Amino acid sequence: MDTIVINGGKQLIGKVRISGAKNAAVAILPAALASTEKVCLNNLPDINDIRTLVAILEDLGIGIRRRGRHALELNPAKLRSYAPSYDLVKKMRASYYFMGSLLARCGRAEVPVPGGCDLGPRPIDQHLKGFAALGVEIEQEHGLIKLFAKKMRGAHIYLDVVSVGATINLMIAAVTAEGRTVLENAAKEPEIVDVANFLNAMGASIRGAGTDVIRIDGVSRLGRVEHAIIPDRIEAGTFMLAAAATGGEVVVDEVIPKHLEAVSAKLREMGVTVDAQPERITVCREDKLLPSDLKTFPYPGFPTDLQPLAVALLTAAEGVSIVTENVFDGRFRHVDELKRMGAQIKVEGRTAVVEGGTPLSAAPVTATDLRAGAALVVAGLMARGETILSDAEHIYRGYEQFEEKLRGLGASIRRTRGRGSVLSRKTI
Ligand code: UD1
Repeated sequence: MDTIVINGGKQLIGKVRISGAKNAAVAILPAALASTEKVCLNNLPDINDIRTLVAILEDLGIGIRRRGRHALELNPAKLRSYAPSYDLVKKMRASYYFMGSLLARCGRAEVPVPGGCDLGPRPIDQHLKGFAALGVEIEQEHGLIKLFAKKMRGAHIYLDVVSVGATINLMIAAVTAEGRTVLENAAKEPEIVDVANFLNAMGASIRGAGTDVIRIDGVSRLGRVEHAIIPDRIEAGTFMLAAAATGGEVVVDEVIPKHLEAVSAKLREMGVTVDAQPERITVCREDKLLPSDLKTFPYPGFPTDLQPLAVALLTAAEGVSIVTENVFDGRFRHVDELKRMGAQIKVEGRTAVVEGGTPLSAAPVTATDLRAGAALVVAGLMARGETILSDAEHIYRGYEQFEEKLRGLGASIRRTRGRGSVLSRKTI
């Protein structure tokens, strides 16, 4: 168990460089094995989810050479298994992308039912419905999803829900299916465009990624590629919200401001100054925060991954803010922890009513998932005194050098690894 200790009450000031996008990288690494030739990836984030994926790929036989901290060279020709190991796959939800990539490469996959952040029920019925439409036989037994296709054929697939994972997984699988696949009601996240660009650079024929209709014309094989991952808009949004929460001034560097328009607009509504330049965004708060209602939606809406951080921020805005979570059921587990810090929040179904204005007070809290963990760090930065965050390892699945980057902005924050309590005992 890792712990993060934060001494809050300090403004964040300075510049922070944003890493490569986790949600693009966790799809692109599995997608690499759809090719049989060398794949070079740059701007990979140095996070635990990537370490897990590299371990899965190596376990499947893929040759991997590290080229520094953020780049890898893969040799997918060496693939020798279509069954990723349970011990590794259970660590992360995005391991479901091995279904699409193994189908594209060899028409066969046996993937354990995926793990990942607990955000309520997270079915994969749309992935499976799409695979079936491509002609894949599907069996589920002993905790494994077994997929087999003698030959995949392009199909017209209408997704009942807008799903990032299903859109990407079906796009990857369809790359080598015979004929044309049309994905309707596809998700439009920038990470989907990045995966499509990567696959196209390998020789795939995908058009329409970033819109709600994606057309894929199957090709017989994929070749070599060098690709750089796009910047992580969720990491960038985290630092933007943290800057506003601490009343500081932060330059969020090496980002694509277009990907952050929903966040910038919401911050401006709250009275925060947001200045977008071509590759950076400066966030500065001088005045009091204004309350604001917020609804999460698939891109280009306000991202659900930043909702926990927005709730933490809104505790500082005097007045009532209503936050509606439209993407996941049960994504309010951070609220109980924020209440331990004195936040006045009521949750009913998909809505949280935040009565802001009472300063947070430092407390021992627990990270229940990746983004909830980040939100509690931001809450700790806002609160005076020492906040001790347990189960902090969730954060390192998705944030590169989180406490180092925050320290670079002036935060007082440190991480202790492994077991042992850092809470001091009051003795009689
Ligand atoms: C991805 C992101 C995650 C983000 C989420 C929504 C990755 C690795 N993770 O997760 O950070 O919070 O998008 O932006 O990219 N659904 C179904 N059936 C399905 C698939 C999804 O009902 O087959 C539902 C989900 O339960 C959820 C909604 O669709 O309510 C959106 O989920 P989805 O976009 O698929 O999320 P993930 O791809 O898992």
